[in-house]
Amino acid sequence: MRFVRPNRILLVLRTAQGFSANMGVRCGVKKVEIVHTPVLLNESLEYLSPLGESFEKDAFMIDSTLGEGGHSFNFLSKYPSLSITGVDADAQIQGRARERLAPFGERMSFYNGWFNEFYADYPLERHPDLILFDLGISVFHYERSGRGFSFRHDEKLDMRLNPSAGESAEDIVNSMPEDQLANMIYLYSDEKFSRRIAAAIVEERKIGRISSTKVLADLIYGCVPAKYRHGAIHPATRTFQALRICVNSELKRLPEAIHNAFNTLNAGGKMGVITFHSLEDKIVKNYFRNLAKQCVCPPEAPFCTCGGSPCAELLTRKPVEPSEEEVKANSPSRSAKLRVVRKIRDAGKERLYGVEAL
Ligand SMILES: C[S@@+](CC[C@H](N)C(=O)[O-])C[C@H]1O[C@@H](n2cnc3c(N)ncnc32)[C@H](O)[C@@H]1O
Repeated sequence: MRFVRPNRILLVLRTAQGFSANMGVRCGVKKVEIVHTPVLLNESLEYLSPLGESFEKDAFMIDSTLGEGGHSFNFLSKYPSLSITGVDADAQIQGRARERLAPFGERMSFYNGWFNEFYADYPLERHPDLILFDLGISVFHYERSGRGFSFRHDEKLDMRLNPSAGESAEDIVNSMPEDQLANMIYLYSDEKFSRRIAAAIVEERKIGRISSTKVLADLIYGCVPAKYRHGAIHPATRTFQALRICVNSELKRLPEAIHNAFNTLNAGGKMGVITFHSLEDKIVKNYFRNLAKQCVCPPEAPFCTCGGSPCAELLTRKPVEPSEEEVKANSPSRSAKLRVVRKIRDAGKERLYGVEAL
């Protein structure tokens, strides 16, 4: 769970008539207040470097989770021959990235939508040499969106990345049957008091609709054992994480998204995924492991139908984790894990075997 005080960076692009050596682009005067610090940035820049690759001179990357554009900004700055398309389901945060990345001109383009839909029906003519996923949500969502991702602000319970479609957290909290609510909270956050919390929610619903983060957080605080109220994290932390994952179908979208993304990648290209909790990481780890296997056919199959050779090479045998310095400087990075593969060939559906959508 990424729940933290933001590291505020005021990015000033100050080259009214000039040329920014740092960014290699002409730009106007713009001030964009950035609240999210990109995680595992140096490691991503190294593992997904276009330098020394066959595509070095004209590389194309898809940043599948653009956010405020922190990773993209640094990739474009460091690798002048690279261009990027940035995908994000959230039009509001993408607006900030658009402003921030405008100085890069045509090297940067944008797609507003869910990444699984983007890769399922790939809309671009050009295929990528590099793909990055930096999963979850941004500090911007907790601190600035006003959509109730954090119980530290009293806001309307919404939590949708795309607020114009689908059920909000308020809809779910006020309509889901108690046993489903308990299972969902347990599954998506390992909350050991999920049954108690679900029961308290259902009791509260009899009195009135639960519409704000404060009402929900106070309710959870009040229903867990007193000992649990003074632990390392607020007792509502896990339930809020579970609700956000549920509202945005985060784990349902992931297996199909990484599979189709992999097949969109050019052979020889590299794909990296940064995860923030064990449920996400398990999906990525198992899928990448299947990609690297020679054969994934069940032992009882009379003959091999999966191609009988690896689809990818694992560039990270163990996940790359943040250094102590990074965790100290940017606490949301503490649970981050980066895994990277290099594509050899397309993967059939059977490579998704054992990679469950949750
Ligand atoms: C951790 S943030 C990315 C931060 C970014 N790398 C940076 O350095 O600024 C993840 C972003 O992915 C977006 N996102 C999450 N799930 C998505 C999905 N299924 N499809 C598209 N965008 C998604 C969120 O809206 C959020 O802006």
